[in-house]
Amino acid sequence: MNPFQSIYEAVGEDNLRKLAAGFYQEVAKNETLRILYPEQDLKPAERRLFLFLLQVFGGPQTYSEERGHPRLRMRHLQWKIDGKMRNHWLNAMISSMDQLSLEPEVRELMMNYFVKVANHMINHE
Ligand code: HEM
Repeated sequence: MNPFQSIYEAVGEDNLRKLAAGFYQEVAKNETLRILYPEQDLKPAERRLFLFLLQVFGGPQTYSEERGHPRLRMRHLQWKIDGKMRNHWLNAMISSMDQLSLEPEVRELMMNYFVKVANHMINHE
């Protein structure tokens, strides 16, 4: 089992919903990130992220029922993601995590996951 799959049980669906919502509030405030997001309305993107987080952290698999295999790196190739962009993304996620009162161990586990995947999304120097 992927070590991140215990996160869903530990934080619960409500917190993951808040995490996705908080993340997109940060995107809306961040000009560098915001230009990348194709849709005017960020709500559909927020829902995709929420469903993805549920799935990857061990909850319902609705994301893949709706979207198929995540193939995150491939889906992100359409944007130029360098180290700076990764930092913008991670900072938005960290700000959102900071709004939740997470157990330190769970926070660290989530943080490790986000850093690992965000590094993997880099497709440009
Ligand atoms: C490293 C910098 C990153 C940038 C600049 C970035 C940017 C984007 C953008 C512009 C979208 C389109 C929004 C939409 O319409 O859904 C997107 C989608 C998405 N991103 Fe990222 N992202 C990054 C990292 C990550 C990471 C680390 C994860 C997961 C932990 C992630 C998960 C997703 C998911 C699940 C979607 C929706 C995919 C779909 O079903 O179409 N992204 N991202």
